[in-house]
Amino acid sequence: MSETTAHLALLDAARDAASRAYAPYSSFRVGAALVTEDGTVVTGANIENAAYGATICAEANAVTTAAATGARRIDTVAVVCLDGAAPCTPCGNCRQILREFGVETVVMQAEDGSPIGVPLSELLPMSFGPEAFT
Ligand code: THU
Repeated sequence: MSETTAHLALLDAARDAASRAYAPYSSFRVGAALVTEDGTVVTGANIENAAYGATICAEANAVTTAAATGARRIDTVAVVCLDGAAPCTPCGNCRQILREFGVETVVMQAEDGSPIGVPLSELLPMSFGPEAFT
């Protein structure tokens, strides 16, 4: 499978996950899909809360779900927003969450639907991560 085909498949999975978002306050549905080291695809969507600060972003949802099932290294994460402008990029907090598990590439969707792969190191330069403790 080519990298573009793999990225398109992940975007599809993220879009599907976004359709299950719980976003009654913002009406801004986000989906994320990632691949773990063993090739498993895990998805997540944003889950909002009446206490807004308790909202869980789609990327955080996908990453913590994967980590809770044992994943410790995640290569690629795709993000899709159904209700906003493309490309939809991860918020700052989510960039840090992706950083924890070594994400290399964040795939977003251009307006024409094509995948845009961006290194996490570009989205989060000079980042703080687990190596700080070694
Ligand atoms: N949101 C995400 O799920 N991921 C991001 O990276 C940015 C924002 C969600 C949070 C909230 O439910 C809605 O989008 C509007 O901010």
